[in-house]
Amino acid sequence: MSIGILTSGGDAPGMNAAVRAAFRCLKMRDPDCEIVFFRDGFRGLARRLDSSSDRNVDRRAVRDIIHRGGTFIGTGRVPELLLPAEGHPSYAERVAARDDFLKVAAINLYQMRVDNLIVIGGDGSFRGARIIGDAFRQHFPRRPFRVIGIPGTIDNDLHGTEYSIGYDTALNNVVDAIRKLRDTIESHRRAIILEVMGNTSGWLALQSAIAGGAAVVAIPEVEETWDHDRIVRSLDAGVRRDYRYFIIVVAEGVRRRAGEDWCEGLKRKLESDPAIESHLGHPMEVRINSVGHIARGGSPTALDNTLAGLLGSGAADVAQIGRLDSQPPVEGDVMVGCRGPQTILTPLDEVIERSPRLVTRDSELYQLSQRLMLSAEQPF
Ligand code: F6P
Repeated sequence: MSIGILTSGGDAPGMNAAVRAAFRCLKMRDPDCEIVFFRDGFRGLARRLDSSSDRNVDRRAVRDIIHRGGTFIGTGRVPELLLPAEGHPSYAERVAARDDFLKVAAINLYQMRVDNLIVIGGDGSFRGARIIGDAFRQHFPRRPFRVIGIPGTIDNDLHGTEYSIGYDTALNNVVDAIRKLRDTIESHRRAIILEVMGNTSGWLALQSAIAGGAAVVAIPEVEETWDHDRIVRSLDAGVRRDYRYFIIVVAEGVRRRAGEDWCEGLKRKLESDPAIESHLGHPMEVRINSVGHIARGGSPTALDNTLAGLLGSGAADVAQIGRLDSQPPVEGDVMVGCRGPQTILTPLDEVIERSPRLVTRDSELYQLSQRLMLSAEQPF
């Protein structure tokens, strides 16, 4: 039997270290076990076998990759796995395309004798992996097959783990961008609106805003943070206290929920606010920037690579002995996550049902942000 490994969804720094850790731990326990790398995410499962996967890879394949960002086996999103609402004009066509995709993937996995598939990705990837696992079991009910998830997403929004691979590197990348922007906006006495990745969850925006000393943060989960007037009042309080510059961090999901021109609208409001203008002596100057995909690039941090090592090694244990080292065995598809330095297993279904894990008003980090950032009520 063999063990498949793939990375899926948005790349996250540290994915390479996770592949390497899984590979090394699998081979350490059983030097003869066959490992298959599937290229470009789930797409690699459904292409011709010779072109989409590396079979029986040897240790040279994971040499010199631990320091590299991205994922050396490629990744991707597979829209074929998602269906439109029933009743949509192309529904039947899409179901047929998805069934074809799943059938080829199941046959390939069967022919390669893959009994454990390690999937490194986020909640969308795990949803895809569950569909593939179910299709495999439906086509080949007598062949054992298990999906083992490893959390890899810069959004850090998965249930079942405190941290996911890539988050720490992305956080440091964003804080680095904030520090660089600080130099220029301080020189000009400007405000900057900085957009940060995070389509549904605002963890990256929130924590980078706290760590980077931002004046204001706006996240998709907490509607009051999108309120332009509230932000204008906060910045006015800062101007009155003679602050030289202002950093406003906004998660990309705010645009999706509050309107595409949210950043431009805020810029216009700040630049035309009479109170700010009178306290400043001239209209405020505002620039809009976006960290974008730069947040996902570069060498992984030491923390991300350590986490990747822990989770990759845990996934190898589950594939070979059906459990984490000191814990009882677990049946079915699972995800290996972490609580502090400890690895833990959560059923994949539970991870999917309870993800994305969103920021709430009660989240400690959100409460902290409200205590540390500018507000109109600030008494000092
Ligand atoms: O899922 C991780 C993520 O980084 C999101 O925060 C972001 O919305 C998305 O990926 C962007 O993905 P893509 O690379 O497909 O543009």
